[in-house]
This record gives sequence, C-alpha cells and structure tokens, in this order.
Amino acid sequence: MSAAPTIGRRDADDFDPVRPGETFTSAHEEFHRLRARHGGIARSQEYEGFWAAIGYDEVLSVITDIENFTTRKQNAIPKFAFTGVRPPLHLDPPEHTEYRRVINRFFTPPRMRALEPHVRDAAVSLLAPLLEERAIDVCKQYAHRFPAFVFAEFFNLDVATSELIKQVSGTYVDAIQVLDHETVKSLSGELYAIAQGIIDERVAGDYDPEEDLTAGLLAARHDGEPLPAAMILGCVRQLIVTGMVAPSVFTGNMFVHLSRDPELQRTLRADPTLIPAAVEEMLRLYSPYRGMARTARRDVVLGGQRIREDDPIALVYTSANRDERVFPDGERFILNRPNIGKHIAFGRGTHSCPGAPLARMMMRITLEEALARTSEWTLAGEPEMAIWAEWGTRSVPLDFVRA
Ligand code: HEM
Repeated sequence: MSAAPTIGRRDADDFDPVRPGETFTSAHEEFHRLRARHGGIARSQEYEGFWAAIGYDEVLSVITDIENFTTRKQNAIPKFAFTGVRPPLHLDPPEHTEYRRVINRFFTPPRMRALEPHVRDAAVSLLAPLLEERAIDVCKQYAHRFPAFVFAEFFNLDVATSELIKQVSGTYVDAIQVLDHETVKSLSGELYAIAQGIIDERVAGDYDPEEDLTAGLLAARHDGEPLPAAMILGCVRQLIVTGMVAPSVFTGNMFVHLSRDPELQRTLRADPTLIPAAVEEMLRLYSPYRGMARTARRDVVLGGQRIREDDPIALVYTSANRDERVFPDGERFILNRPNIGKHIAFGRGTHSCPGAPLARMMMRITLEEALARTSEWTLAGEPEMAIWAEWGTRSVPLDFVRA
C-alpha cells in the first residue's frame, strides 16, 4: 500500500515514461512498483514535468471532476505542437455537449447491429490470407489494417481514404512520441486536409444527417445556429485519428495474451460465448491509454499530493485498471471477474469513449473469427511495443496454425 500521504510537491522523479526497450510486461511491473511505493500519484520530470495518476481512485477523481480539471489546455502528455481545437476531447462542457450529442447518435445498439456484418466481413477478408502463410505479424498484417476497414464503413469513406488516414495518423503518433514538432505540425496539417475533403464532399453531395456522422455535424444546430465550421473540421479531424489508434495497439495485446495462455484459447474455441467476457478482462489488463491528460484549473490535493494550478496530470488508465485496491490480484487474468464492470479502459464521465460499443464489437469479432479458423497460435518472437503515450503492441510475430 501507499506511504502515509504527505501534502507537498515531490522533488525526486518517481518514474521515467520514456524508457527504451519496453517489453510486454515491463511497464506494468514498473507501475506495480510505483503504486506500491507511492500510492496513486507519481511524478516525472520528463516532458517538462508532469503528475501521473496511476491509481484507480485518482484517475476516477480527475476524470469525473470537471470543476477542477480541464481538457482545454493540455489533454495529452507530451504536449505537442498546437494545431487547433478538436472537439469533443479538447472542449469542456457546456461547449463539449453538442458534439457528443451528435456523435453518440452513431453508436446506438441498432447502429452497431447494422454495422456488425460489415465488421465481420472485414475481419474475415483480412484473416483469410494469414491462414495461408502461417508465419505472420498480426499487428502489421491485421491490427494495423482492420480499424481502417471498419472506420471506412462507419464513417462512409472509401477504404483508400481510410487507409491513408491510418498511415498518416500512425506516423503522426510516432512523431509525437519523439517530440518532432515540425513533423507533427505537417502531418496534422495533412490530417486536417483529409478532414476538410470529407466535409467538402458532404457539403456538395446528398448525405443524410441521420446516416452520416459528418453530415450530422453539419446539420446540428445550437440555439438555432450551425456549429462553427472550424469546430466541425476539428471534430472530424479528431474522430478520424482516435478511431484508429487504440484499436490497433489493443488488438495485438489480445493475441499476445492468448499466445501465452493456450488453455484460454481452448476454452474460448470450445465456448465462443465466453469471448465478450474475455475481451472485457483484457481491456482491463491491457488498457492502451496512459498519456491522456487534464490540467488543474486551481490548486487541488490528489492522492496526498498538492497539484498546482496549471499542472498537467496524465491519466494512466494502463496502471489504474490493475490497482489492487479495486481489482484484487489485479495483475492476473480472471475470466468473469466479479467487479469487471468497474474498469475504466474507456474512461468515465464527460469524455468517456463514445466508440466503446464499436471497439468491443471489433475485438469480439476479431477473436471469434481468428479462434474459429485456427487450431492454435503461439508467439514466434518477441512483441515490439509502442512507447509512451500509447501502451501496447506494434509488432507481434505469430505461428498461426489454421484449423
Ligand atoms: C480499444 C479501443 C478504444 C479504447 C481503449 C478507447 C479509450 C478511450 C478513452 C480512455 C477515452 C477517454 C480519454 C480521456 O479521458 O481523456 C476515449 C475517448 C474518445 N474515444 Fe475512444 N477508445 C477506443 C476506441 C475508439 C473508437 C473505435 C472510436 C471512434 C470510432 C473512439 C473515439 C473516441 C473519442 C471521439 C473520444 C473523445 C470523447 C470526448 O472527449 O468526449 N475511441 N477513448
């Protein structure tokens, strides 16, 4: 458990988020050690210094406290070149509300049911060639491509545009990690240009605002007025990137977990109705976001530390979801864990992930189709990991044995 809380600013670094050569287990070992030593708040001097909420209660306190924490100033660590306000993540309520009202309409259960056959077709068509090859990299050949196919369907884009977005956003995320501000700016500009192209097509064409999210944003009215054009652009630009990043890294994590647990593979092959529960526990164990952030609006005490006005604080979901104070034996996979509903892999409150139903469906279908078509898969080499701010795999070599 944590040391007795002392209010004050720690001088020493608790941890270094930019460690080269992370393995599949090393970040979680480090977070485990940090939680045991410091409780729910750690401190880093990297990226100009920041607090890191690593405990469950601390992350939950920050994300549900919109009076004391804002997303407007800095919503990711590291902070990178400012290229525009992008709703909904960059806005606080009440400005935030109108964008979520439109976005939420596109993630209802009937919408998800209508999308499901297309998501399954994408999974099946991407998996088919892998079954012929046997030696595969499930990240490069599947996890990096699948979200682009799904997103194309969800967002009414052609697959080529969606794959371009995936490719540019991948390079963009890499440039953020190494603080290459010039490249971040120029790739962000490319993503804005793609978003503008999507909007221009909707303005010129005949798109139903009930069926197309971009058209829905264009048709929305607030006090009788359309939403500002720059904000619609920012919102489309935000959606096209967020919809691609987390599903990619997370998919590879599931394949690594199952490689290391052949018994679970057998259980899920024998009874696929257990797959949703397995996905849920993996979302808890392998939550991909560790660098989303808020900024304190005023001095606040959190986990025994005084956070000063304007201090940035990272929301380390990756660590919070293994906090032993909430999830006993939190480092272990437990199918049907009694309090699994408490996990916060998709956040909570105002900015909680609208894409959660789609993400869950993508993961379930991936496992249903991959498990049904194989007799087993095993790791054929070390997974390569993304570095902060995402947590998860970039490359996972597998021996993928068809059924
Ligand atoms: C495994 C997949 C995913 C995970 C784990 C995930 C996780 C999250 C988390 C933790 C947040 C909250 C961030 C914060 O508190 O600052 C978030 C926000 C968001 N996510 Fe996801 N996400 C996933 C997939 C998706 C998909 C597929 C989409 C869209 C198609 C999406 C769209 C968004 C958007 C737009 C926000 C911002 C919401 C707001 O500010 O109101 N996400 N996501």
